[in-house]
Amino acid sequence: MTTHANDTRVALVDSRTDGRAPREMWAPMKLGAAEIENQFAALEDGSPDVRGRREALVVHPQAPTGVRGLAPATQVALGVLLPGESSVTTRDNTNGLGMALAGHGSVTIGDRTIDLVQQDVWTKPTMRLETFRNTGSVPFRYIRYSNAALLESISAFYEDFGGNDAAAAEEIVEENRKRAKDLVPPIPVGGDGGQLLPYEAIIDIDEVPDNPLHFPWAQVRAELGGVESLKTGYNGRPLVVLYNPATGRLNGTAPSFFATILSVGGAFAGPTHRHMSSAINYHFAGRGWSVVEGQRFDWEAGDLMLSAPGWGAHGHTISTEGAQVLTVQDHPLHTSTGSLVWQEDIENGEILTLGSQVGFQTNLADYAGR
Ligand SMILES: [Fe+2]
Repeated sequence: MTTHANDTRVALVDSRTDGRAPREMWAPMKLGAAEIENQFAALEDGSPDVRGRREALVVHPQAPTGVRGLAPATQVALGVLLPGESSVTTRDNTNGLGMALAGHGSVTIGDRTIDLVQQDVWTKPTMRLETFRNTGSVPFRYIRYSNAALLESISAFYEDFGGNDAAAAEEIVEENRKRAKDLVPPIPVGGDGGQLLPYEAIIDIDEVPDNPLHFPWAQVRAELGGVESLKTGYNGRPLVVLYNPATGRLNGTAPSFFATILSVGGAFAGPTHRHMSSAINYHFAGRGWSVVEGQRFDWEAGDLMLSAPGWGAHGHTISTEGAQVLTVQDHPLHTSTGSLVWQEDIENGEILTLGSQVGFQTNLADYAGR
């Protein structure tokens, strides 16, 4: 049945009298370890949801109705499965990653099963059948990050429970398939690089296979000596990116996010800077503090923070006992849309659009190898 919504009309906004509203920054925010522990305990009581999951979304108070994000593009879920439990198999069009926090579990994505222990990270490609399991004898807890908040805000979230279509989609491997778009050559127009492409180019995009990746903590931890050797005075950040080559120049862990592991053995003071990407920190060892838009937040292991709202000035200081931090940032999302405006030196530093122009340098050469 066709419906007509005649009583709702678009607004015509005259830019001469109705200017752009100032962009509202989402306030920096901390969810403490004790609150997270309470939430896990509550999830472990009672029954799982219709997807066989026990998950709580960490939603920012400034999130618009229907957008369940801790940052405008980023949804954060705390999840747990009890011993013997497994989730219903689903697939959705989000991408992201997760970190195991306690217990033993596994995630099956397509035909790959990844076994997970504490601090292991896995990636979640788009539209693959996904099943979580507890494979141990105590609750399996995890935190996962996805671009569901962005998709909710643009009314573009999709989910189903698989079935024939999903199975078939994962099996489409045609050797030497003839691609219709290759039958019609591009037609140059305008003399400066523009081209006309056939419809077939739209419906048969060059694919980049994105297989689920496993970053076992035991291996990642063993490689952290380099960043741990960096001391205050180094003007970069003592961290490694968990890089997924399928994201290419976006330097992501997933198409929308990078995850980094910051690891410091003692005191470290980082510079104040800002970027349009939003960063969420999960602190899993040590303690320190962050100053975000002039507000100080002390943090310790188990605390989750919206530590860098888009374009919020922020700097992180690590205490003498050191710290380890998982940071998830929607940096690749911004790189892909050319919106990654960045300022390394908050005082008078240049404002660069990373990925669209030459970026910044650090003084790493003075510190590397020490
Ligand atoms: Fe930052």
